[in-house]
Amino acid sequence: MKTLFVCVAMLGLMGSISAAVASPPPAYEGRRLYVSYCQLCHGPGGNGDGPLAQKLEITPADLTTTLRSRSDTILKKIITGEGRQTITGRTRHNLLSDAMPQWREVFDDAQIDALIAYLRFLSTSKHPLMEDPEVGYRLYQQYCTVCHGEEGEGDGVMTTLMKIEPTDHSSPTAMSLLSNDDMLEAIRGGRGDFMPAWDGILSRAEIEALVSYIRLLSN
Ligand code: HEC
Ligand code: HEC
Repeated sequence: MKTLFVCVAMLGLMGSISAAVASPPPAYEGRRLYVSYCQLCHGPGGNGDGPLAQKLEITPADLTTTLRSRSDTILKKIITGEGRQTITGRTRHNLLSDAMPQWREVFDDAQIDALIAYLRFLSTSKHPLMEDPEVGYRLYQQYCTVCHGEEGEGDGVMTTLMKIEPTDHSSPTAMSLLSNDDMLEAIRGGRGDFMPAWDGILSRAEIEALVSYIRLLSN
């Protein structure tokens, strides 16, 4: 146990020296854009109940249901405003209402892909976000990547040093099996021999922020 702590302390030092930080997953970037540009109309959960929608007296689509039948290509067209006539499921002429702004001048391709990744998260995830994933992202870089890896794949530098196999946080199948409460408990109390207990080091809100980040990581 003592060697483990020496090891952890040394890696902490190494971590602060090496500056390379992995870029966050697309759904994480997508959420940031969504919060700034889409939430006002589409609402925090995508249900179409944002404050601006009420003001403008428009009815944004409930993205949690309409998106299931839309391909990424179609979503891209809807968001950029290119090819509106190709959209199905509209009552009149299959045309999307002008109340949905055209974003083609605002976002580049990578940003549109990120937005789509987050919209997919909103329409498919069984597990809602808890506290702010942006806080979770920073904590994850600080405390978890040494074992779980920069992208959450379970390949952090400690894995070879300690011969351990941390859970793959980027796996949608593995992560969807864990409820938010399962994840909270695992982080608070630890798991197996080498997943440390973070209760006392991190607050409840910080642990909930980590759960949110892992949800976006595994989308
Ligand atoms: C000013 C309000 C407003 C904003 C801001 C807005 N939308 Fe919309 N959006 C709408 C309305 C209204 C509709 C419904 C249009 C219709 O049904 O013809 C819509 C429809 C959509 C649809 C089509 C849903 C479907 O499958 O039928 C998508 C996808 C969408 N919005 C994504 C976005 C994204 C992504 C953003 C942020 C980049 C965004 N919207 C910002 C008002 C808005
Ligand atoms: C010293 C290495 C190490 C560090 C640091 C670490 N983990 Fe882990 N973690 C593991 C290992 C090993 C497992 C697999 C445990 C098992 O199932 O035996 C694991 C499993 C998990 C699981 C899955 C638990 C389950 O029930 O399947 C979660 C969630 C998790 N870690 C979150 C975190 C978070 C969040 C952090 C940072 C605050 C973190 N871990 C830091 C080694 C680590």
